Formats: sequence, C-alpha cells, structure tokens
Amino acid sequence: MIGNFSYLNATKLYFGDDSLKFLNEELPKYGKNVVLIYGGGSIKKTGLYDDVLSVLKANGKTVFEDGGVMPNPTTDKLREGVKIARDAKADLLLAVGGGSCCDYAKAVAVSVNCDEDPWDKYFLRFEEPSCEILPVGCVLTMAGTGSEMNGGSVITDSATNTKIGHVFGSEVMPKFSILNPKYTMSLPKYQMIAGIYDIFSHICEQYFSGDDTNVSDYIAEALMKSVIDASRVAVKNPEDYEARSNIMWAATWALNTLIAKGKTTDWMVHMLGQAVGGYTDATHGMTLAAVTLPYFRCILEAGLAKFKRFATEVWNVNPEGKTDKEVAEEGLAALEAWMREIGLVMNITDLGATEDMIEDIADKVIVLTGGYKVLTRDEIVKVLRESLN
Ligand code: NZQ
Ligand code: ZN
Repeated sequence: MIGNFSYLNATKLYFGDDSLKFLNEELPKYGKNVVLIYGGGSIKKTGLYDDVLSVLKANGKTVFEDGGVMPNPTTDKLREGVKIARDAKADLLLAVGGGSCCDYAKAVAVSVNCDEDPWDKYFLRFEEPSCEILPVGCVLTMAGTGSEMNGGSVITDSATNTKIGHVFGSEVMPKFSILNPKYTMSLPKYQMIAGIYDIFSHICEQYFSGDDTNVSDYIAEALMKSVIDASRVAVKNPEDYEARSNIMWAATWALNTLIAKGKTTDWMVHMLGQAVGGYTDATHGMTLAAVTLPYFRCILEAGLAKFKRFATEVWNVNPEGKTDKEVAEEGLAALEAWMREIGLVMNITDLGATEDMIEDIADKVIVLTGGYKVLTRDEIVKVLRESLN
C-alpha cells in the first residue's frame, strides 16, 4: 500500500553537455548581487570558474566570492558564509561544485536572515526556517549526493566531531541546477567511486524498509542496476560520456525525494557513516561503504524477504534449491564483490577510525526507526567494531 503524501519538487533541472547556457535564462530572475560559492579550487583548474564568471558578468551581476568550502562543510565556514552573504546583500547564492558546496549554500540560505545560531537551530534542534530564505542555484561538478534536487544540508561541527544533516522543505531546494556530465570527468577516481556508492546507498536506504511491494521498490531496483552497469564502464573508462551521464542522472533520481514517497525509509547506513565522518572527516561515500556490510548482516534476518528480493532482482541470484537466508547472503556477497571490484574502501580503519574511538562514535549515531530493525546501543557498537576490519 502506498501511504498518503503530498509531493512537490521545486528544482528546475538543465541537463546535458551544453547546459551552462541556461544560466542565462535563470539569472535574470534574481537581483544583482550574486554570491559565488565554490570549493577548494577544482573549478579554477578546470576552467569552469572562468566560464561561470563570464556568464554572471554578461548578465550584469555583481559577484561576491565565497570559496574554500571544504568537503564536509563546517560550522565555522558556515558562519563565515553567512557574513559574506549578509555583507553582499545577496540576492542569489550560486553554488558551483559538489554536494558540499550545494549543501553549504542551502545552510547559508536559511541563516542569512536568521538571528539565531544556525547549528543550534537547524542541526541540533531540527527547527524549520522562520525567516526569509535566499534562493540557491547550483552548477554541479560531482555526482552523488542528490543535493542538486533536494533540501538536504549536512554540516559538521568540528569542535564536537558531530556531523548532522537537516532535510529542509521545498522552499530551500535549489531553484535550478545545471547538470553537465562532462564537468564530473575531472573528478579524481576516489571521489568518482565514492559518489557512485553514495548513490547506491541512497537507493538502498529507501529500499530496505517497509513490507509492501510498492512502485518505489521497482524504481529502486532499476536505478540500482543502472548504477552498477554504469559504474563498471566508468571505472574502466572515466571519459565515457554515456556512463557518466547515467551516473549523474541516477544520482539525482536516487535522492530527489521521489522514491521515498508513500513508504518508510531506513537511513541507518547514513547515520553510522555520518558519525564516522564526524570523527574522521573521511569522504562521505567511503564512510557508507565501510559500514554497509556489517549493518546489512545485522538486519538481514529482520528484513529477509527484501534481502532475498535484492539478491534475485538486482544481482540475478538463482534461488533454486536454496533457503531464503542462503539467497539473501548470496546477494550480499554479490554486493561485496561489486564494491571491491570498483575499488571502495571497505573498512573504517582505512578512513582513520580506531578501536578507541568506537564508543564515542557510537554516542553520535542517531538511531532512526523506519528500517527493519531498531538498533540497540550494543548492536551499534558491534556494527562499528565489525567495520574496523
Ligand atoms: O573542493 P573542490 O576543489 O571543488 O574539490 C572537491 C572535493 O575535494 C572535489 N571535486 C568535486 N567536483 C570535482 C572535484 N574535483 C575535480 N573535478 C570535479 N569536477 O571532490 C571533493 C569532494 O567534493 P564534495 O562536494 O565534498 O563531494 P560530495 O558531492 O560527495 O558531497 C559530500 C557532502 O554532501 C553531504 C555529505 O555528507 C558531505 O558533507 N551529503 C549531502 C546529502 C544531501 N544534500 O542530500 C546527502 C548525502 O547523503 C550526503 O550526506
Ligand atoms: Zn549519502
């Protein structure tokens, strides 16, 4: 049964290898002052910075720069960004980069006209914005998070090693996003693979929950198969436009709010990975890869029917003559083989986590209740310990 819901996705997408030209259609909708948000400099190396700047200038915009957004953007950077946007009297925040830049832009957008501290209000108290929200636009350079078409914003408080995401409503989603698969081709392989696994994990988080066979499960399986196929091509040939464009489009669909509608969702791999990320500052997709298998093995019996379906529908496991558990385990073995094949980091030790951090990391894991099993503290510690190797 599909549960009741309302649905609106407020982001307009422009997809393709000539999509930057559509910035000319979007910019006239906003005032003169644009804050150009970008990361550690990749867009300067690729030339995208110059390209975007010239479109902004051609549209008569006054540009204020907010560069240096780090992967896993921090509270300190957020407070700095709020000041830049306030001083600029910003009319538009234009994020040019990966999920970190886009997430950060959304966090600035809800904080510029807010008197309270954004970390306390949005990330610790999970309150909704009660102030005017600045519009955000995005030119995406990395496929993975889905931030280009959702309201998610994940911020890290380095002082307390705490990484927390707030999923804002449609008023915070980017007003437009420009998706050019060619921009993703300059990504280091490590980031490309991490992004691929982030996509896969987003789909799993919304698939491994609920008892019903609903339309989302079928869409999820198709998306997973597409990501697996395209990943194999992209790992061998990162310049393959077809594969990179499929990965980029799958990333958007994996987390643009659609496949979560009308069903429960899990998100515990993300809660575990996020807690690890808070302590290690590791690449998001890799934190997910490193905790997935121990977590899935922990919930396998509770979600046996879906894990069996995952094995047969996504990995083509032949169920004949096997128990449900054997089929489900074969599915996880196929998942593990693919993860190793594309080169993911398979344990949190390689991401900088150590045995003595486990209890502290466990303290930071937010326990959600939408999945097949609500984890106890002991189970969280067990999953994290198993993720060390
Ligand atoms: O900073 P620059 O120099 O641009 O380099 C970045 C960064 O070092 C580099 N990069 C990006 N595009 C590139 C490139 N390098 C060369 N060529 C390009 N075309 O890649 C590195 C990682 O970038 P980042 O933006 O951090 O990666 P990603 O897109 O994976 O974003 C990660 C952040 O998004 C959050 C994560 O927790 C993390 O903080 N997430 C956001 C979500 C959402 N909004 O819904 C959901 C996700 O689950 C996730 O939590
Ligand atoms: Zn993710």
